Amino acid sequence: MLRGVAILSLSTVLGATSISRQDNSCQLDATDDFPGVHLLQRAGERAEKSSAAAAQVVSAFGSGSSAAKPVPALQELGLRGDKTVVVTGAAGYIGSHATLSLLEEGFSVVGIDDLSRGWMEHVHALQQVADTSKGNFQFIEADVGKEGVLKDVLEDARPAAVMHFAGVAYPAESTKNPLKYFENNTVNTLRVVEAMQATGVRNLVFSSSCATYGSPTEFPITEETEQVPVSPYGRSKLQAEQLLKDWVNAENDDASKPLARVALLRYFNVIGADPQARLGDRRPKNLDSQYMRLSTAMLDSAQGFIPAFQIFGSDYDTKDGTAVRDYIHVSDLVSAHLVILQKMLSASVRASAQDNLPNVLYYNLGTGQPLSVKQMVAACKQVTGSDFKVVRSKSRAGDPPKVWASVRKAREDMGWEAKFTNITETFEHMWKFRLKETNKRFSLMENFAETFFVDESGKEVEECLFQDESGLPSGSFGKAGVPGDTD
Ligand SMILES: NC(=O)c1ccc[n+]([C@@H]2O[C@H](COP(=O)([O-])OP(=O)(O)OC[C@H]3O[C@@H](n4cnc5c(N)ncnc54)[C@H](O)[C@@H]3O)[C@@H](O)[C@H]2O)c1
Repeated sequence: MLRGVAILSLSTVLGATSISRQDNSCQLDATDDFPGVHLLQRAGERAEKSSAAAAQVVSAFGSGSSAAKPVPALQELGLRGDKTVVVTGAAGYIGSHATLSLLEEGFSVVGIDDLSRGWMEHVHALQQVADTSKGNFQFIEADVGKEGVLKDVLEDARPAAVMHFAGVAYPAESTKNPLKYFENNTVNTLRVVEAMQATGVRNLVFSSSCATYGSPTEFPITEETEQVPVSPYGRSKLQAEQLLKDWVNAENDDASKPLARVALLRYFNVIGADPQARLGDRRPKNLDSQYMRLSTAMLDSAQGFIPAFQIFGSDYDTKDGTAVRDYIHVSDLVSAHLVILQKMLSASVRASAQDNLPNVLYYNLGTGQPLSVKQMVAACKQVTGSDFKVVRSKSRAGDPPKVWASVRKAREDMGWEAKFTNITETFEHMWKFRLKETNKRFSLMENFAETFFVDESGKEVEECLFQDESGLPSGSFGKAGVPGDTD
């Protein structure tokens, strides 16, 4: 059977479509000076009013010289000061949900992401939220580790805090490519702190991980459990934690400086999607599918995008032989960030009088409820109605058998605890988002198939072999958009 090839990747089609549909509402600017940086402007009037200023923010990054520093463009966009937060990794899974919550709580957000694993679809969704919320949103496509980028953003925005989500987050992948992990998680955290130090930004919320604990033998894992990571990923996060503690202590030794504070948040396994399905879990870009997160792989299996769900390890010393984890809903996770941020900000205000908040805050963020892979499969099958195939594979390096949290410290200190503790409900949120996105994609494919799919000689054909670069399922799609029906 003749198969076509997509001459535009779906990401290009989606990007082009959403931008042309919103011709009046957004614009993507790039500079020749600094091609890695794009600035996506906010919608409508505000973007029109500020387009000159916004363009100058981009050229500021390009110039790299303070002599060419333009007017504080972010300020003109309403993105400066105590109600502004800079979010790195804002187009990713957790960073986008955090940005959503910040906007809903009335904060303005400058989001930075190099899109190495993030999605413009999330950025567009966040723009829509910003349009109806009090806060403003500005997205900048850039690498946080690139010299001068973050410093220029912080100088312009003078935010109340930085939330640093950008990083790489797959333990099994880290065993194959450790340098990528140390560079992006450890070295780039150092770059973030250098930019904060240079610009006087004093509050940082950092995405750490339960992977810093490694494979403990006593449960639940408390914040005082010894941190002995078993993967380069865990070590890269632990080293970042250590450098942040040292930085804060050194800064606070100098009484002439305002207090610096960091929150080291050790996430357990993050799962779920915005209950309103505005954002959710997507297949990660540039990631070998063997490293995919459990929930992503399960939903891909349920939709038939991958032939079977693989259980890595089924002879562990656990109740059913499969690995046990603590799955925290992404909305709960980001709500903890908001509680901590508010505490940090009110403590900064009180700092001159009496301030009892420690300079280094550290919390486990989980549910405290262990669930096995088999229990997760059962919940996913129940919600999706799909009896997808499950196969057993060898355990992977860097995967401990059991991991679950004590969440007592977060509850006692912050009054925070997870609300979405019913895993079926959590899968329902993810499934709702998946179905919405899949329907959107298939209707786009129906609209574009005849125009965009050609065979190798350039002749139009009705079918395509999809080359996916957007984090969306790849495979063969027929004219009616049914996965796999050309095979
Ligand atoms: N998802 C989890 O279960 C989990 C658990 C523990 C810790 N974490 C941590 O939370 C953070 C966010 O994880 P996630 O699950 O949202 O991952 P993600 O891959 O969805 O998001 C990370 C985002 O950062 C961006 N990014 C990566 N390197 C960058 C760079 N140098 N400059 C700019 N942007 C960059 C990516 O494009 C992506 O959008 C990570 O630091 C991760 O280590 C996640």
